[in-house]
Amino acid sequence: MPSPSHLAVPQGAHPFPHRHLLGIAGLRPWEIAVLLDEAEQWIELNRLTAKHDDRLAGLTQINAFFENSTRTLLSFEIAGKRLGMDVVNMHAAQSSVKKGETLLDTTATLNAMRPDVIVIRHDMSGAVALIADKVDCPVLNAGDGRHEHPTQALLDALTIRRRIGRIEGTVVTICGDVLHSRVARSDILLLTALGAEVRVAAPPTLMPAAVDRLAVAAYTDFDAALEGAEVVMMLRLQLERMEGGFVASPREYHAFYGLTAERLARTAPDALVMHPGPMNRGVEITSDIADDPKRSAIVEQVEMGVAVRMACLDVLTRARRHVEGWGAEGWA
Ligand code: CP
Repeated sequence: MPSPSHLAVPQGAHPFPHRHLLGIAGLRPWEIAVLLDEAEQWIELNRLTAKHDDRLAGLTQINAFFENSTRTLLSFEIAGKRLGMDVVNMHAAQSSVKKGETLLDTTATLNAMRPDVIVIRHDMSGAVALIADKVDCPVLNAGDGRHEHPTQALLDALTIRRRIGRIEGTVVTICGDVLHSRVARSDILLLTALGAEVRVAAPPTLMPAAVDRLAVAAYTDFDAALEGAEVVMMLRLQLERMEGGFVASPREYHAFYGLTAERLARTAPDALVMHPGPMNRGVEITSDIADDPKRSAIVEQVEMGVAVRMACLDVLTRARRHVEGWGAEGWA
């Protein structure tokens, strides 16, 4: 499903004039649409038995993860391998970071191995941009602190576009730990850029103070935020980023902000349920909803993640591969 014509690349413009993918902030709507459209081609390939394209053969991809991950790390690794790259993973917990090596020394070490692309997850907001400034290849942000998780937003948008048929005008309710969520931030930026009507619902303690600066409607009443929603995106309670006092207890949080079958009845008929994972079952979402294939797109989100990451790796390495029309001249 290609993007509507008003999201077409303007005549003579570079299709994606960025060296790195550090966030959704700063991307124009048609640049987001380029990545979504590029991802479509990989969905069918990924459903075949033989899943190789190999257009990136000979290139080296380093996945440097300073924070735990299942979905993002594995899908970036699979994406790179399906495109033919030599892919290596650096888990900070098993690296010289544990011996006290600084982030800048680790960065210089990775760069000296001449990678063609580096994918980074870090628990510090801004760390990925810092690294991107010091290396000679494109960098993809796989999640930095509370800041951004751009490929998660892209895979969420691709899932919505395929299941609902459009993003513009779609009513999306994002509920949960908005304060600590880089997913919420990237999703809000992307979905509002493409014209969705976004609502956020959270307890006052988990609502960012600067929510008025985002183009969203903020609710502390989850039931009200669900009225007529076409997509309900539940967020994980990020207990690892809390030092107590944000919620009285998981049980009380569930009573007010957990997605149950009763609450889901308030949405538009057949509203789509999403969650970036990993889930706290019985806290932000009940298992009967999470596991209902008619309503839940949670597994499909993971599938779209591989296609989106293949698209991002392909697009960001085009200037290095001298693909016509994708050169570094004209980059932002
Ligand atoms: N959604 C997401 O980022 O999941 P992981 O932490 O497992 O990568």
